[in-house]
Amino acid sequence: MPYPFWDVMVGYGPLMAAIAVIHVFVSHFAIGGGLYLVVAERSARKAGDEGRLLFVKKLSKFFVLTTVVFGALTGVMIWFIIGLLNPKGTEALIHNFVWAWATEWTFFFVEILAAILYFYGWKRMSAKNHMRIGWIYFWAAWASLVVIVGIITFMLTPGKWLETGNFWDGFLNPTYASSVFFRTGVCILMAGLFALLVAARYEAGDLKTRLVRGNTLWALAGLLIAGACWFWYKASIPDATWLTAKHQLSIAASALERFQWATYLLFALLAVLGLLLARMWNTVFAILLMVVGLYWFGSYEWFRESARKPYVIPGYMYANGMRVGDEAAWRRDGLLSHVDFRTGDDGADLWRYSCRTCHQVDGYNPVKQAFDHTDPGFIAGSILGIHKMKRALDPFPGSEKIRKPMPPFMGSEEEAKILAEWLWERVDQRPMHEAAGLSGPELGAAVYELRCARCHAIDGPDGLRDPLEGESEEDLREFLSDPADGMPALSGDERDQQALLDFILGWYESEKGGE
Ligand code: HEC
Ligand code: HEC
Repeated sequence: MPYPFWDVMVGYGPLMAAIAVIHVFVSHFAIGGGLYLVVAERSARKAGDEGRLLFVKKLSKFFVLTTVVFGALTGVMIWFIIGLLNPKGTEALIHNFVWAWATEWTFFFVEILAAILYFYGWKRMSAKNHMRIGWIYFWAAWASLVVIVGIITFMLTPGKWLETGNFWDGFLNPTYASSVFFRTGVCILMAGLFALLVAARYEAGDLKTRLVRGNTLWALAGLLIAGACWFWYKASIPDATWLTAKHQLSIAASALERFQWATYLLFALLAVLGLLLARMWNTVFAILLMVVGLYWFGSYEWFRESARKPYVIPGYMYANGMRVGDEAAWRRDGLLSHVDFRTGDDGADLWRYSCRTCHQVDGYNPVKQAFDHTDPGFIAGSILGIHKMKRALDPFPGSEKIRKPMPPFMGSEEEAKILAEWLWERVDQRPMHEAAGLSGPELGAAVYELRCARCHAIDGPDGLRDPLEGESEEDLREFLSDPADGMPALSGDERDQQALLDFILGWYESEKGGE
């Protein structure tokens, strides 16, 4: 089914993240909270510790409110946003997983009901029934996680589903089991962090110190479970996806780095502030830990969401909603012939449907700097070869599996030119020599960076030094004017062109001099 395109001022990635992070934080914390409440209630009752029981009661109010209000609202918002951002991806997911969603919502409904009963039951229920309701709350909440994780992980690692199309193959995909346990650890940690915040408001004394130490141990247990499962999770991601994320996708790679160092930071802060300095525990400590916890988990989610590029469902659908396998037909028919909601500005429409899901011209993951000081011919050539653009790497075991970060342009050559013109109107059109005020080898190097380096390295096994060795200037010009498929032809400003050729020929000059 065709869909219109939603224009928003911000990048799709940050928008999705802003909403998803709130939801994900609240929902994990509600699940962990369920477990925390029943375990803490049980142990307080067993020990006959009225102070702790009162603490649990206080906490339950907040947990219930957040689950019901925030969990539900942000959950609906996520639907709303993914439907707008990627209607085709959402449609594909619904077709496959509609029953999983129905099941999840049933669990969520039970969870909310149990949460409300639990909260109101403190006074009206026997201890035994109250605990029972608490367990129902936790198990229903956890079951909703167990279901939804099947769909989330499918989007990174669809596994055998790609061949069979079978629901269970997609649901019980390679990263499914490790994710369920990783996220269970996260739930436990989040509940501990929140309990620590509530404990911070207690007056200093033995009860407070006991609460702080107990809650810190609880949070640490969650972090250890999540940390251990992380290695399991990592090992279950196929090499191609993992290596691509690390070596080609700077957004995924930096999120991964943030996640890793935040793990150590969180661990250290919990151990020092929550155990060693438990007597000094205060709201500032608690908020600091909350913030680091949010940052840590947010980084993980950001990594997972950005690691699947160029796909939204690896091997099946690209992030811009185009189906893998449609390339040839679409290139022949033209992309716009498949678009039912055209605005009259073909350049803008081509940008929206081909690139906008992952880029802003100038902003999030921008393209402007790659096309400044070039020309429409170069931009059109780059668009037609966009799926070959990839950061140059020295080979290492497994490097041949690395994917290129972008899907092919699914339009005709004519459409590539229209899009190129549209983009060119939005970049700095001055040639490089004029804009940078450079000349000679510096100018050549700058032009090379701009026009060649995004697809080729100079040295290394895939570098250009060897294949171009011994070419005369005429040979070079001829080759570059009618290049390989997927490579833009030499074009643009004459002075820039000449400097580029001189720069390339200059690679061999010192060698000649040495002979
Ligand atoms: C699936 C998402 C996706 C789509 C669709 C996409 N790109 Fe990209 N693009 C990326 C990613 C990811 C990178 C690598 C960014 C990085 O360095 O991490 C990239 C890099 C680029 C770069 C290099 C930027 C630089 O400074 O090195 C250009 C230019 C570019 N894209 C242009 C386009 C154009 C034009 C289109 C549409 C025809 C497009 N992209 C479609 C994801 C996408
Ligand atoms: C949009 C990506 C892109 C850009 C930009 C680009 N190329 Fe290429 N180039 C390719 C592709 C694709 C091939 C085909 C072979 C391949 O897949 O590696 C290729 C092949 C070549 C080859 C042949 C390599 C061989 O091993 O035989 C040379 C030489 C070359 N390019 C030089 C250049 C120079 C010089 C520039 C800058 C003026 C440049 N390329 C810009 C994509 C690009």
